[in-house]
Amino acid sequence: MDGDSVVTMQTDGHDAREGLAPVENPFLRSIYSRANCLHPRAFFLRIDGRCSQDCDFCNILEEGGSDFSSQTGYIKRMLRQIASLKPHDAVVNFTGGEPTLRKDLVMLTAYAKHLGIGRVVLQTNGIRFKDKVYLDAMLRAGLDDALISFHSHIEEVSDRMTRAPGTWRKTHEGIANALAAGLPVSLNAVITSDNIDTFAETIDYICEHFPGLEGVILSPLQPHGRILNRMEKFPTYTELKAPIRAAAERLMAADIHFYLSYCENPLCWLLDTFDIEPTPEVRQYIVRRLNANTCGECHLSTTMDKDKVKTSKCETCYMQDVCFGLWGRYNEHFGADELRPAPFPDGGRRLRKPFSVAPYISQGDRVFAAGAAFRGVPIR
Ligand SMILES: C[S@@+](CC[C@H](N)C(=O)[O-])C[C@H]1O[C@@H](n2cnc3c(N)ncnc32)[C@H](O)[C@@H]1O
Ligand code: SF4
Ligand code: SF4
Repeated sequence: MDGDSVVTMQTDGHDAREGLAPVENPFLRSIYSRANCLHPRAFFLRIDGRCSQDCDFCNILEEGGSDFSSQTGYIKRMLRQIASLKPHDAVVNFTGGEPTLRKDLVMLTAYAKHLGIGRVVLQTNGIRFKDKVYLDAMLRAGLDDALISFHSHIEEVSDRMTRAPGTWRKTHEGIANALAAGLPVSLNAVITSDNIDTFAETIDYICEHFPGLEGVILSPLQPHGRILNRMEKFPTYTELKAPIRAAAERLMAADIHFYLSYCENPLCWLLDTFDIEPTPEVRQYIVRRLNANTCGECHLSTTMDKDKVKTSKCETCYMQDVCFGLWGRYNEHFGADELRPAPFPDGGRRLRKPFSVAPYISQGDRVFAAGAAFRGVPIR
């Protein structure tokens, strides 16, 4: 019997107790750790569409700027709904646009904590944390942690990416202030053609200048929103391989957790980047981790699947059931030549229940609908 089919939900502790062959590759362990994965009860509240930057790759805001702002009463109602289930278990992630542009964010944070919501996370470009009075108010309101964007240690590179001259300094100061105040901080570094050549040095800089970070997200671009209008800035997976590997090695050496999404990126690319053979043991390990991480229950898995495809190459791949495929837009633009399907081993079988539902394009052309956030964005 294929070992995969008898595996049920397990945790790291279980893996050891069950005596299952551990996969010792530290990169694979880091990528599939629970921390890398969304909490199944995480709620992303996109509460503002205004922004103090104008990133040329932004996957959310319209070209030229968006101007939506959710009403306070509506957000409070959503928070009450979230809290009506198991509030201590819930994670609320305030995002946007730039959520710190709202005057009521301190109050909304305090309100969420007052309702008993377990964790309130802020996704921000960090600019407002330059103001220590504001930062202190957010901390007193109960903010639990922050995810701050930091794309380059080189001021001109960052300001070119964010198209907001002078903001790199403010973000830098904001990150330093937040860390000094004891707020748990992770950074998100998006990779475009602007910063790819200096990306490894950016990671060195982060390790040296921001001690105490919870982790760093290494973010290959998602082909959504504004970046679709400038695909010449979109690095291919082949181009991303070396800088991602170097960045992960540096973060690991500095004992800072690195995040690299396994559901956004093709599995064959992840394995190849870290020199991991696609063996049955590796697939079995991944199955255990996907079960332990309750994959399929977070909202991302369902929203992303509609933008993903499995190409003709994937049809023959032994890893197809545990791989979430390739972005459809990426496939349209660059094709699928970079994919490396894993050969089926002797006696290898498909899983009874695959984790990914990304459709095979051989079953018909896919039409990728632009979501509401992208309305009005010209797509070439
Ligand atoms: C849309 S922003 C909203 C929060 C805040 N304004 C910020 O930039 O941190 C959320 C995160 O998505 C990242 N992001 C934006 N566009 C992206 C894209 N096309 N691909 C991958 N990540 C992207 C941003 O850098 C940021 O870390
Ligand atoms: S990625 Fe964040 S900071 Fe950049 S334009 Fe979009 S919302 Fe603003
Ligand atoms: S299913 Fe496709 S994208 Fe995934 S590992 Fe196999 S070849 Fe790569």
